[in-house]
Amino acid sequence: MGKLDGKVAFITGAARGQGRATALAMATEGANIACFDICRNLSYPSYDLAGVEDMERTVAEIKALGREALAFYGDVRSFAEIKAAVDETIETLGGIDIVVNNAGIAGIAPSHELTEEEWDTMLDINLKGVWHGCKAVIPHMIRKQSGRIISTSSVNGVKGLPYSLHYSCAKWGVVGLTKTLAQELAPYNIIVNCISPGTCDTQMVAGLAREAGLEYAEAARQFSSGHLIAGLVPPEAVAAAVLWLASEDSRFVTGHNLMVDAGWSCT
Ligand SMILES: NC(=O)c1ccc[n+]([C@@H]2O[C@H](COP(=O)([O-])OP(=O)(O)OC[C@H]3O[C@@H](n4cnc5c(N)ncnc54)[C@H](O)[C@@H]3O)[C@@H](O)[C@H]2O)c1
Repeated sequence: MGKLDGKVAFITGAARGQGRATALAMATEGANIACFDICRNLSYPSYDLAGVEDMERTVAEIKALGREALAFYGDVRSFAEIKAAVDETIETLGGIDIVVNNAGIAGIAPSHELTEEEWDTMLDINLKGVWHGCKAVIPHMIRKQSGRIISTSSVNGVKGLPYSLHYSCAKWGVVGLTKTLAQELAPYNIIVNCISPGTCDTQMVAGLAREAGLEYAEAARQFSSGHLIAGLVPPEAVAAAVLWLASEDSRFVTGHNLMVDAGWSCT
């Protein structure tokens, strides 16, 4: 018996990286999955976001596990696009039990050189997009009197790190959003948590490495130099933490920020 048998999870940024790993971990435990991802590039960040082929791979891998998978192409900055996908998921898969607000971008720059457009894009995707995911599904979860909301913050959401001011501000915001919603929604049996990965082995880090003009191995070494446990965090390790927060095993945990940061935030 799977830990999520019969459950439906709606995951943003599911086409690749931590989102895909989470989708596959949840499907392995019995959940049907709605995948939401932009699957096109934006003018910012400069690195490539997921493509349609990434989404197709995620969907095929979920289906190969014997679960249902829906693909939605949309931008978390648009409440209308998330709401439409949430509504169609509820209609097609019979409800939503778990939302994972994972979609995000990153960028590196001296704080005073950030443009207003870069600041706005970062805050709109990494913080407002998380609120959109919550706002779209909360009425449904209140009606059901149950639900799990798990959002992705970062070690940068608890620890000031230079050259990522806008990212850090958005990720601190995700922690604040989580602790506020946990209180508002507990009376409806809705559990709200977030996770904070350290430097994780995904295309995001590869993209930042290219921006910094570094070979991936060197970037990985530099970007994870604060980890107490050596190396990059594998996306599967983050997925395992998200899975736990979605499962019955964590039913007395709410308003928590689970650090999957190889110990970085201790320092
Ligand atoms: N990689 C790291 O080191 C690291 C560390 C801490 C936190 N995080 C966070 O983890 C989450 C997942 O990142 P990842 O490491 O898997 O990187 P990733 O770039 O591989 O995945 C991010 C996904 O989000 C999607 N996305 C981006 N903007 C979107 C938008 N506007 N609307 C819909 N989808 C959008 C991308 O297409 C991509 O599939 C992000 O929130 C990121 O900030 C990453």
